[in-house]
Parts: sequence; structure tokens; C-alpha cells
Amino acid sequence: MIIKPSTKLADAIHANYLLLPVLNRFGINLGFGDKTVEQICTEQKVNQQFFLEIANSFLEKDYFPQSELQSFPLKLIIDYINQSHIYYLNYKIPHIEKIIGRLIDEGNPENKNAHLLIQKFFREYISELTEHIEKEEKEVHPYILLIDQALHDKKITRELKDIIRKKSIDQYAKEHDNIEDKLFDLKNLIIKYLPPSNDYILSNAILFELFRLERDLNDHSRIEDIVLVPKVQMIEKQILGSKV
Ligand SMILES: [Fe+2]
Ligand SMILES: [Fe+2]
Repeated sequence: MIIKPSTKLADAIHANYLLLPVLNRFGINLGFGDKTVEQICTEQKVNQQFFLEIANSFLEKDYFPQSELQSFPLKLIIDYINQSHIYYLNYKIPHIEKIIGRLIDEGNPENKNAHLLIQKFFREYISELTEHIEKEEKEVHPYILLIDQALHDKKITRELKDIIRKKSIDQYAKEHDNIEDKLFDLKNLIIKYLPPSNDYILSNAILFELFRLERDLNDHSRIEDIVLVPKVQMIEKQILGSKV
């Protein structure tokens, strides 16, 4: 299903509930009755075209309008990326941690060591994810917004060119590791090596969450790698190519 301006948002959610966290990132809350995407975006001052491209590419793996997505202002793209970061760190991760805690407290005591190992793995993952996100928010995004603003204001200086030569987005692109791949080992630990027991309700709940997080992170990295990076490369090129 491809969502259009005339699609009722409730119908889109019934078709794919995975859209829910995407709505929250745009500040759209439930309770919108039979309103269409167009009505909701107008009322809530959401950039409708950007919402549609993001939502549709999130839902349909093969739908990825790269050049359309690149045409949106960087500030809009970075805001969306940051809202996703908030969702991972403030909601998703604590939620999964809670379920792992319940597995330790309520699960079969004979499996406690295996459950503690899952917790250890997950905590290691949290620190890697946190570090990954902090780097993006504290180093990469401020750099992008700085050069974007300078180009917009036509304030191109030699200092700015030096900053670009030092910090260029290519470095980020090279080092930008696939943080979602690391979830694979953790999923495998639960799927393959958890001792058989009747703790399956909680271990399944953890697995479902990990699969969903992985899917969401895949979409997230795709926006960073295929939308954000090439757009910043173009700005860098433009600045470096202009006379000072
Ligand atoms: Fe990110
Ligand atoms: Fe990232």
C-alpha cells in the first residue's frame, strides 16, 4: 500500500502497524478519526510531501525515492533522524531492557546464567548504540548544519573550506558502521543457544522487539547513508568550488 494525501491515516495504520513510531516522530498523535493524511498534515503543520516519502519508504522496502528525499531541506531530514534517535534511546531500548529484566526475575532459575548473558550482551549493545548516536548528534549534525547555513547565507570563507577539508562527510560515511548488524549476534544467542525451557513468552517478546528495532534501524541508516551523505557531499563540493 502506498499512502497518498487522500489516504485516511487510520487505514494506513490498519494496513501496517509498523507506521506508528514514524507518526510519533512527526508529532502526529492518535485520535485523528477519519481524517486524511492531507488534513492531518495541514492541521499539525507537518510537511506533507516529506511525511509521505518517509512513511512510504519505511513501509515499502523497494520504494525509495532517493532524489525526492534528497530534495528536502537538511534541517528537516536531521530533525527526523534525531526524533528516531530519541525513540531508540528513550523508549525502545528501556522497553527491551525491562523485558530482559523480567526474564531474569521471573524466568526459570536454572537458566539464570543464560539470561544474565543476554542482559550483558544487550548492555554492551546499548553503549555502542549510544556512542554511535552521540557522535552523529554532537559532531556530524552540527557540522552539516554549519556548512548548510553558510552556503545559504553565502558566507563562504577560507576557514569554512578548511573545516570541510578536515571534517568532510566522507569520513563519517566511511566510519558509519552498521549498528543494526550487531543485533544479529544477540538474536542468535536467544534463538540458538538459550537452554530449552518454558520461558518462551518472554524470550519471544525480546526477539520480536529486537527484530522490530533492527528493521527500524535499517531504514534509519538507509536515510543517513543514501539521503544525508550525498546531499552533504553536494554542499561541500559547491562550497569548495566557489571562489573566496
Ligand atoms: Fe542515526
Ligand atoms: Fe547512524
